Amino acid sequence: MTIAPTDEIYWRSIAAQYDIADDCINLENGFFSPQARPVFEAFQRYNVEVNRHTTHFMRTEFPARLSTVVHALAEFAGVATDEIVITRNATEAMNIFLQGYPFRPGDGVISSTQEYDSVQEILRMLEQRGRFTLNIIDLPLHPANDEEIVACYERALTPKTRALVLTHMLHRTGQILPVAKIAQMARAHGVDVIVDAAHTFAHIDFQLPALHSDFIAANLHKWLGAPLGSGLLYVCKERIADIAPLFGDTTFPATDIRKLAHFNTVPAAPILAIPDAIAFHNSIGSRNKEARLRYLKDCWVNHARQLPHIDLLTPTDPQRSCAIATFSVKGKSGKEIADILFNQHNIFTVAVDVNGISAVRVTPQLYNTVEQMERLVAALGQLR
Ligand SMILES: Cc1ncc(COP(=O)(O)O)c(C=O)c1O
Repeated sequence: MTIAPTDEIYWRSIAAQYDIADDCINLENGFFSPQARPVFEAFQRYNVEVNRHTTHFMRTEFPARLSTVVHALAEFAGVATDEIVITRNATEAMNIFLQGYPFRPGDGVISSTQEYDSVQEILRMLEQRGRFTLNIIDLPLHPANDEEIVACYERALTPKTRALVLTHMLHRTGQILPVAKIAQMARAHGVDVIVDAAHTFAHIDFQLPALHSDFIAANLHKWLGAPLGSGLLYVCKERIADIAPLFGDTTFPATDIRKLAHFNTVPAAPILAIPDAIAFHNSIGSRNKEARLRYLKDCWVNHARQLPHIDLLTPTDPQRSCAIATFSVKGKSGKEIADILFNQHNIFTVAVDVNGISAVRVTPQLYNTVEQMERLVAALGQLR
């Protein structure tokens, strides 16, 4: 069922399912999302269950329950059960990919200045260890079209390039990259693409195969609203044998994805609550959620564009961003702006650095209201 992004009665009923403190307006939901009440209550029940039934539960029941969760998650992601692993987060998944990828001496890797910081750390560490040579490219903040972005990557290719490491939605500006087109271009050159989809999974309406990429990392504790400490790793079946386990394993065949999941004792309750988060998400619908999140972003961005002292660092084209958008103010650092918003207007945001521009990132979630976005607009007007 289609729900209009402007249907305030409906969206108020969704917002009412989040128990959020009202001591400030939280517009920093890019870090992680709170769980909606049905998910949080299920999570608490699972914690009680694990603690009451302890090792008996973990040894006798958890393996089968885990399989059920993996099935539900694979179905939601649009991939096969034996192509995914539940990780603690996207960083863990990216470490498993990059540390396990079969780089050969002399290989080149291309990434951008806008990758997530901990992903940049993995890349720098592996370059220092001599695993590959890194070429870090710049991406335009306001691309004219998809082809401009694809060309940035294609221009950087050399005969030595083995892999592109890129992010589906850039965390500093919210810009969505045309991953499928980049991946198709790369494939034509025999180059792999390793995708960080931490911010798009369950945020914009897509399933993993749409990215045409063999290696994808995602978070479940961001936009899906699953408990903290839940992420996802996807490797297409034909490529599993290419990734060596980061966590030692000799028990599973090279082609079995479980060889990448030898994590041993894990917190069970966040994993068990993943289907509850999927059920809550599905009760709204991916398309409706995406449209509402984009609408909340537009509520402030459309006004901010008219303010001469505000520079928006997020593309204007609606399909190139969703909930996240970022702005700067001439003569003020991102931290100064975020401090003013918090101290004078009780609005919590976060300072980010966008290629040397000191800026502020604003990220509403489904529990935020149009009135809150209007409070932000009023505050932005006073930021001169
Ligand atoms: C684009 C991107 N990738 C990866 C991560 C890492 O997520 P986590 O800390 O959950 O591993 C983040 C976190 O904000 C992110 O924004």
